[in-house]
Amino acid sequence: MVKVVAGNWKMHHGPLQTAGFFDRFRPEVEEGSVRIAFFPPDVSLRSSRTCARVQADFGVQNIHWERAGAFTGEISAEMAKEAGASLVLVGHSERRHVFGETDVDVGCKVRAAARAGLVPVVCVGELLEERKAGKLDAVLRRQVAAFAGSLADCRDYMVAYEPVWAIGTGETATPEDASAAHAIVRSALGALGRCPVLYGGSVNPANARALMSAPDVDGVLVGGASLDPEVFARIVEAGGALAGAV
Ligand code: PGA
Repeated sequence: MVKVVAGNWKMHHGPLQTAGFFDRFRPEVEEGSVRIAFFPPDVSLRSSRTCARVQADFGVQNIHWERAGAFTGEISAEMAKEAGASLVLVGHSERRHVFGETDVDVGCKVRAAARAGLVPVVCVGELLEERKAGKLDAVLRRQVAAFAGSLADCRDYMVAYEPVWAIGTGETATPEDASAAHAIVRSALGALGRCPVLYGGSVNPANARALMSAPDVDGVLVGGASLDPEVFARIVEAGGALAGAV
């Protein structure tokens, strides 16, 4: 299966920096053997789409669940789609833990993505305390149960397992940990589990290949290491090297 390598830029790279990123990224990547995706800030979506000139999908990092209304600072799934997004991150750990997004919100946003025809990349993952307390299985199942019903209406979707303790910390799950968690996610999804399940959390060029080689790991969602074009290109290359591998 072709691996997915997705970059989540978070609140980095405005429109001008975005153009510069792609000028350096383009010559570094060999296209075709990896499904590449970018999640730039909303204000850089247009610049990404016009400047990239590489085969990639583009998405937004968040949506509101309503179509329109008095929700200052928010954008709807329909607006994201109209602006050229085909993907949307839902329930990223920073949305959950910094902005207080709940499991219920995540379910509503997946439903909105389905309504607008966006492909949701729904993020799940446990806190370090939860892992230490032996609650990994229960937490992942609870998080998945909150949106699984809405996934059924999506034409296409992905799930990203991102242990909170590994995001932006330099501490990565081992390939074995990632595999075990992905198996739980797939089991919790049941019949809906035939989708790409990505790993995220301190992915870098040195660990990307081992993580993507692990059973049940279909790709990676990369934060910090996606901001530098040469570094991100090395991660894409690691995914490409696995294309066709059994
Ligand atoms: P990181 O972020 O790669 O910087 O740990 C991953 C993410 O938050 O998606």
